[in-house]
Amino acid sequence: MNLSEKILLRNVEIPNSDRIDVYLKRGGYLALHKALRDYTPDDLIEMVKKSGLRGRGGAAFPAGLKWSFMPKDPAVTKYVCVNTDEGEPGTFKDRLLIERDPHSVIEGVIIAAYAVGARRAFVYIRGEFFTGVKRWMKAIDDAYARGFLGQNILNSGFDLDLSVHRGAGAYICGEETAMLESLEGKRGEPRIKPPYPAQVGLYQQPTLVHNVETLANVPHIILRGPEWYARIGTEKSTGPKIFCVSGHVNKPGNYELPLGTPLREIIYEHAGGVRNDKRVKAVIPGGASTPMLTADYLDTAMSFEALEAAGSMLGTGGITVMDEDACIVDAALRLTRFFAHETCGKCTPCRVGTQQLSSLLQSIKEGRGQQGDIDRLLGLCQGMLGHTFCPLGDAAINPVLSSIKHFREEYEYHIKHQRCITAS
Ligand SMILES: Cc1cc2nc3c(=O)[nH]c(=O)nc-3n(C[C@H](O)[C@H](O)[C@H](O)COP(=O)(O)O)c2cc1C
Ligand code: SF4
Repeated sequence: MNLSEKILLRNVEIPNSDRIDVYLKRGGYLALHKALRDYTPDDLIEMVKKSGLRGRGGAAFPAGLKWSFMPKDPAVTKYVCVNTDEGEPGTFKDRLLIERDPHSVIEGVIIAAYAVGARRAFVYIRGEFFTGVKRWMKAIDDAYARGFLGQNILNSGFDLDLSVHRGAGAYICGEETAMLESLEGKRGEPRIKPPYPAQVGLYQQPTLVHNVETLANVPHIILRGPEWYARIGTEKSTGPKIFCVSGHVNKPGNYELPLGTPLREIIYEHAGGVRNDKRVKAVIPGGASTPMLTADYLDTAMSFEALEAAGSMLGTGGITVMDEDACIVDAALRLTRFFAHETCGKCTPCRVGTQQLSSLLQSIKEGRGQQGDIDRLLGLCQGMLGHTFCPLGDAAINPVLSSIKHFREEYEYHIKHQRCITAS
């Protein structure tokens, strides 16, 4: 289904859209009324399953299935955690939602908590999001004051407390188990999985972790029905998606479109095309950890399945466009440096591998590359792939592998001529 109306970003441009009165005037909290009045927790889980909603935080796990993994026993303490860490370079959608429409996320949290039987929920927010923290806290206070949080919500007998925890700004704390460690006051390092958080999560209790954008979808699914929702997008990638477009485009920003919208349409029709009418050289389709593609892939649909078939991933939907003048070795270096800076250091292949990749790329970029360096880069990636404790290690090799796959001749030129092909 093509969609001209905005769903997730429907409120963000309205003045004072973060205020509860504005949200209520625009139909806010009606989904919560409906959820508590008309449905059992199991009904809600089935509705989310039927909608086809998949996580928007990068891993794309089916949301309803995750809800169904939470134990049903009411005697078991359960938690919901809202992942507001958003540290993936090229991704800036969750910040927009929490700053401009925090109540849509809170409404999603309350419905999710009711469905899985949690009475305590936490927002884990990136420390640098100063405005976001203030907006979250004000919105939560207002939701308590109006009876949407606290005891006996809307006379349903359901209780829920929600509070905000600020992180200190580490990309790894967006990984759900590192987030839980950090929330418990420990160093933010990932835990081994399985067990998954839905089995053993915060304080060893079953915990439903969701991304902000995922939760913002929930009220719409309840209010308008899972069938309506599943008609948006493609068969396997349902619903609307906020695409964050950055890089060499005329109009960088957040664009809400159905999943499956072609990359070319997003770049040229929505983000205003490439600056100075230059050609696209490379595109990172889903945030820094997703493999880059070339201009040959511009007709790829931005869906989970089409991007996988193209050798990349939808990730967070953070699209970074590089024009014909971009130095690919430099791009790979910048991305790798990010991972080298953000590795938590717990396991050697990631801690040492990201540093070694960075220094090799740096020397190639600066004209000190040697014959055999491309194979050395590939060998390092091979040593990391599948040998790290958490997905950050695997993600860190994607910029290197994908840039060599698509732009090997640029690396060779750099090594042979000691300068970038774009500088000639
Ligand atoms: C290194 C790393 C960083 C991550 N950062 C985030 C993040 O900032 N926000 C987020 O929602 N998910 C992030 N994730 C994904 C989470 O681990 C988890 O899959 C997600 O929060 C689950 O929510 P969802 O099912 O709604 O997507 C990250 C994963 C990894 C491996
Ligand atoms: S892969 Fe990297 S980020 Fe993940 S646990 Fe190992 S060192 Fe830490």
